[in-house]
Amino acid sequence: MIKISPSVLTADFLELKHDIKKLEEAGVDMLHLDVMDGEFVPNISFGNPIIKSIKEHTNLPLDVHLMINKPHRYIDEFAKYADYLSFHYEAGSDNAATLKRIREHGVKSAIVIKPCTEPEKIFDLLPLCDMVLVMSVEPGFGGQKFMPAALSKLSVLREECKRQNLDILLEVDGGINAQTAPLAISAGATVLVAGNYIFSASDMAARVKEIKLL
Ligand code: DX5
Ligand code: ZN
Repeated sequence: MIKISPSVLTADFLELKHDIKKLEEAGVDMLHLDVMDGEFVPNISFGNPIIKSIKEHTNLPLDVHLMINKPHRYIDEFAKYADYLSFHYEAGSDNAATLKRIREHGVKSAIVIKPCTEPEKIFDLLPLCDMVLVMSVEPGFGGQKFMPAALSKLSVLREECKRQNLDILLEVDGGINAQTAPLAISAGATVLVAGNYIFSASDMAARVKEIKLL
């Protein structure tokens, strides 16, 4: 079963409480929360105080995507509220230690690769991951166009997980809509992040159901 993880990046934050309720009723599986530091990516979003408030208002698992430099500095902080905690392969130094640290908190660990990173680079880290996130846009902004090069990366990772006999969620993030979702699913994605496609709609629940039933 494909999981849907709506990204709240392009949401109206003052409406978030109501929107989260609507998403819960629509049957989403988790909430994707994009943390940006203005250094690793050229944009600043929000941090743990917002995530804490969201945690207090929903039982949905929180899928926290860190787009920050040297993420190991903040793992203990974000692990307080995250259910899945992902950070970028390109942003850290000792990625294995960071993944282990996330798991020590009882949080699901995930590593993310940008469009410029080949999937082979993370093969040896897979046993430490509960999820892998393949970016299908350059990280930093919602509402961008899906990059088809992500599809072969998903397939390569799906094959490698099979080869290593690992049961890992494969998440794809960026430009997901009713046209690109089926392509990502056929390539092996099991978790779809969708921001703009859901939050720009007048009927968010219809959009969720549309992607979920593909
Ligand atoms: C981009 C973020 C995404 C973004 C996806 O850096 O990681 O999660 O919100 O948004 P859409 O679905 O609009 O491409
Ligand atoms: Zn994201």
